[in-house]
Amino acid sequence: MRAIEWSCWLAFLGLAFACGGSSTAPDPTATDATDSAQTTGSDPHSFARPDEVVVRHLDLDVTVDFASQTIHGKAALSIENRAQVSQLYLDSRDLDVRRVTLDDGGNTTFQFGDEDPFLGRPLVIDIKPHTQVVHIEYSSRPEAAAVQWLAPEQTAGGNHPFLFTQSQAILARTWIPLQDSPAVRMTYSATVRVPKELMALMSAENPTQLAADGVYHFEMPQAIPSYLMALAVGDVAFGELGPQSGVYAEPALLDKAVYEFQDIEAMIAATEALYGPYQWGRYDVLVLPPSFPFGGMENPRLTFATPTIIAGDRSLVSLIAHELAHSWSGNLVTNSNWDDFWLNEGFTVYLEQRIMEEVYGRDYSEMLAILTRQELDATLAELGPEARDTWLHLDLAGRDPDDGMTNIAYNKGYFLLRALEEATGRENWDAFLKAYFDHFAFQSITTQDFVTYLKAELPKLAPEALDQINIDAWIYGPNLPEGAPQPTSLAFEKVDQYLSQWQSAGTLDAAIPAKWSTHEWLHFLRHLPSPLSTEKMANLDAAFHLSQSGNSEILAAWLGAAITNQYEPAMPALEHFLTTVGRRKFLKPLYTALAKTPEGKERGREIYARARDGYHFVSSATIDEILGWEG
Ligand code: BES
Ligand code: ZN
Repeated sequence: MRAIEWSCWLAFLGLAFACGGSSTAPDPTATDATDSAQTTGSDPHSFARPDEVVVRHLDLDVTVDFASQTIHGKAALSIENRAQVSQLYLDSRDLDVRRVTLDDGGNTTFQFGDEDPFLGRPLVIDIKPHTQVVHIEYSSRPEAAAVQWLAPEQTAGGNHPFLFTQSQAILARTWIPLQDSPAVRMTYSATVRVPKELMALMSAENPTQLAADGVYHFEMPQAIPSYLMALAVGDVAFGELGPQSGVYAEPALLDKAVYEFQDIEAMIAATEALYGPYQWGRYDVLVLPPSFPFGGMENPRLTFATPTIIAGDRSLVSLIAHELAHSWSGNLVTNSNWDDFWLNEGFTVYLEQRIMEEVYGRDYSEMLAILTRQELDATLAELGPEARDTWLHLDLAGRDPDDGMTNIAYNKGYFLLRALEEATGRENWDAFLKAYFDHFAFQSITTQDFVTYLKAELPKLAPEALDQINIDAWIYGPNLPEGAPQPTSLAFEKVDQYLSQWQSAGTLDAAIPAKWSTHEWLHFLRHLPSPLSTEKMANLDAAFHLSQSGNSEILAAWLGAAITNQYEPAMPALEHFLTTVGRRKFLKPLYTALAKTPEGKERGREIYARARDGYHFVSSATIDEILGWEG
């Protein structure tokens, strides 16, 4: 750590914030620090030292200021000083701290350590052995990576600005100073001040009506990791789905959203029957503007979701099943650090498909399983089957976790749990999982904790199950181990037949695909022969209006084929899609396909130049790399 943080002073709302960088005056509250800015604990992505001092509760009191694009106010951290140390290490990135006080008393000294490009910088606060509460007056900056500030034009309504945060994996530190490690769990309360015409929502107990004064209070009484801290502010309205669930969306989208998510109550009931009670009170979904970089984010009590899953026919709701499933796998039992990410996502894909099977039947969920396998195979081919990143247990130290989080954790994780189910028998496996969630509820655990528990508990239910599966090869080895489950689907076989008939006879019988589900379409589009002539692409487009599809998954898959086959007539649709949707899962393959040829790359860069400002940091960081974009 640099000896003294010679801070610049940012005049902000008349207040001075120590903000690092070049100096005009020394920071009067900064003290000498000689230790290094390395992470020390078991989480390579956090400067926090929870073994010494751990944050148990956060009380946030902030103002959301659209004019300056800052979130500023006070974070009061209730701490437990386990090792009687004199410094509290927090994570921060692009945060400016004005003042820190202890308990009810006066100022204390603090300093920032060296900056790491993606970890940010440690905020080191001098405390007393008996300190209980640390009050930090701070402000985020407009460039805070978690936060996207949307102009009215980027919303459906077009009249009001919108803000949302995306904290996973290590971006909570860009809008709140805290111990930003999934190993640390805290409860929180918050007061959030927003413009009077907007509603504020968090991963907590939420309002359903506008507050006349624009001041909202939140409570999250269950202890959660920091990556589940979430805030959204916008012109949203609430629609009820059932006694336990509802949906928030911009007024223009609300009715459609209520229709689309009608099955949520059934999904909750199905999951509870399988894995034990839903522990978070209500389950609501917030439909965000289309720049949201993910499909969904499992913020507790309030899943954040992309509007691109509103297809009009409920065909993309497995994503909701996925985010709901995180209420067990991830939010209740949490990966201890990002190397254990598969404990969150692999379990969740497995639960998602079990929920879908309960609500929509086995044929439906087997289609999902095959699509999962196709995506896994593609990722294994892309990374190289022996690559280190194909292990379930990741090694993300020294990297932005976002770079190593591929769908391996999701899809290979899914197939491990399915292999365990098949070896154990469904009834026993369900009993195991239910007990697992109960045993580790509200804890953050490592891969090894899971393996130890599995080896201790599973043989009691199914003595020979573990003999059939090489757990270590799955978790601590590359590729997909032999004997991985192989889902089958009659419906997909029929799609294959349709494809080969088209290839051999050259005719398209439009009556058959008219009955296809989204999943059959995806299977079809993923298996189009390549290359396809412009004429054949045009025949498909004329028969099925793919360039005009209102289903984002189908459209994205079609546009991918259009790029590969240089099918010009679909380029306006591609351009429209890339400039209106910010979901990284769609953007990444499309820009990657464009970047494969010089002309495509040129087109990609030209579109990106116009689209980039509308994307969230998470998406633009990825696309910058694909296109070699430099600001
Ligand atoms: N928790 C993830 C999103 C995430 C992962 C954000 C890692 C940041 C870092 C979420 O549950 C998720 O997996 N979303 C998927 C949907 C799903 C159906 C696979 C998505 O957004 O595409
Ligand atoms: Zn997930």
